[in-house]
Amino acid sequence: MPTAGRDSWASRIGIIMAVAGSAIGLGNFLRFPAKAAANGGGAFMIPYLAALLLLGLPLMWVEWTLGRYGGGFGHGTAPGIFHSLWRKNRFIKYFGVIGIFGPLVIFIYYAYIESWTLAYSFFSLTGRLSAVTDQQGMQSFLRGYQGLEANSFFTSIWPAYLFFVVTFFINFTVTWHGIKGGVERVCRIAVPVLFACALILMLRVLTLGTPNPAEPSWSISNGFGFLWNPDFSTLRSGKIWIEAAGQIFFTLSVGIGAILTYASYLSKGDDVTLSGLSATSMNETAEVILGASIIIPAAFVFFGPDNVRAIAESGVFNLGFVTMPLILNQLVFPGFFGFLWFFLLFLAGVTSSVSLVQPAIAFLEDEFQIGRKKAVWIFGSFAFVLCHFPVFLLRHGVVDELDFWGGTFFLVVFATIEVILFAWVFGIHNAWDEMHRGADLRVPVIYKFIIKYVTPLFLLVILSVWLWQEWMPVILMENVGAEDAPYVLGTRIVLALLLTVLGIAVKLAWRRRRARGEDVHAA
Ligand code: PHE
Repeated sequence: MPTAGRDSWASRIGIIMAVAGSAIGLGNFLRFPAKAAANGGGAFMIPYLAALLLLGLPLMWVEWTLGRYGGGFGHGTAPGIFHSLWRKNRFIKYFGVIGIFGPLVIFIYYAYIESWTLAYSFFSLTGRLSAVTDQQGMQSFLRGYQGLEANSFFTSIWPAYLFFVVTFFINFTVTWHGIKGGVERVCRIAVPVLFACALILMLRVLTLGTPNPAEPSWSISNGFGFLWNPDFSTLRSGKIWIEAAGQIFFTLSVGIGAILTYASYLSKGDDVTLSGLSATSMNETAEVILGASIIIPAAFVFFGPDNVRAIAESGVFNLGFVTMPLILNQLVFPGFFGFLWFFLLFLAGVTSSVSLVQPAIAFLEDEFQIGRKKAVWIFGSFAFVLCHFPVFLLRHGVVDELDFWGGTFFLVVFATIEVILFAWVFGIHNAWDEMHRGADLRVPVIYKFIIKYVTPLFLLVILSVWLWQEWMPVILMENVGAEDAPYVLGTRIVLALLLTVLGIAVKLAWRRRRARGEDVHAA
């Protein structure tokens, strides 16, 4: 039995919570509101919903199905899963490398940002944040914390480093305890708690009224209007469609390999259709209802439309770590609400980042027969070293570079490979049967058509438009300042090395398996 000894989920609600936990993250509470506000408000929802129905949801089902299928052969990551799907092809396993590489690249910077939310939860409780009263002060607080400048708040980066180490340790402690003992146990508690925190914050924002008497039009209902009133003229630009598709991938955690690995711990007859839909719905509730109702409407009533637009365009970090604490400071009990906000982000972050760690661990366990704890040590040490890049080189654009490759580019590439393998190599009829094995929900048959034609075509169009418009400037680093160029180039070299190392690891794993006499081209 190839699957003997693999970990598994203890309950159905457990895996739904884990997948929802992976999906619900910083993307829901920071990235989404900023993107929607900057891309035509309500009009953004048109490409967003199209991407949800034509890319996100189908890929969610594809990943659950492929993950469970691969798990049946003892494979929890894309190299083995792709190989099981297309045994005759000797190269396809190397494409699967992206399914380990992508999550690792996202983890390298995501863990660091997550650690800021832990630090800011702490600073809220101790009252340090509520002592800062103006925009400039809050900005220096953040810059000081990030080690970008020495100032009256922070003289070095070491506090940030300490919070990073603690966050890193928490992540690997969860992983150390395995799927049902770690991930499932944590997500079953953390996901409901984060929903509760978000609900309280949303209710507080809804009852803000018009806190600035000098500006009667800065009311909470106009705040919602600001976010949702559509500006349809934005739909004519290709960029908004790509942004919407990118947001759907990122927020659902699909197209990168994380869900694939989670689903590999299912049993053959476990439902994937209804469970996949449930996790998707939870994520969309957290994003479109909770995420959208907190930061933008609140910023509107205190700062007004012009400032919010400027802040949203200046980036998500300013919105979350400068504007939001300033808003919360205006409330009664700022420490409490500040803690609620940052701790919500922290819980959302941890339940996402543990899903980014799992593919590499599963790869070592499944393909090299290394025990879980040893795998956690090996991969943990490796990841720890890599995480130092964003911590110490934040100012040089390293985080943006990692986010571009891990969080945008390879996501679309991997999703395209996945869906083509599923619908065309495995064959849509097989795939449809496999998806409905043990299913509690019959997927509308139109999705057979969507998965076979629409999703791959949509992805190929996105990829071609991107290549056509952006490839050269990206390769030539046209948008990178001269002093950052060596660091951005360095990051790219490290990423290329990482891909190579993973490719070699796959080669070794398959060679060892052949040496053990397992026929890797048969079952
Ligand atoms: N979905 C997470 C978020 O919204 C990020 C993530 C992407 C997690 C990919 C895992 C895999 O923040």
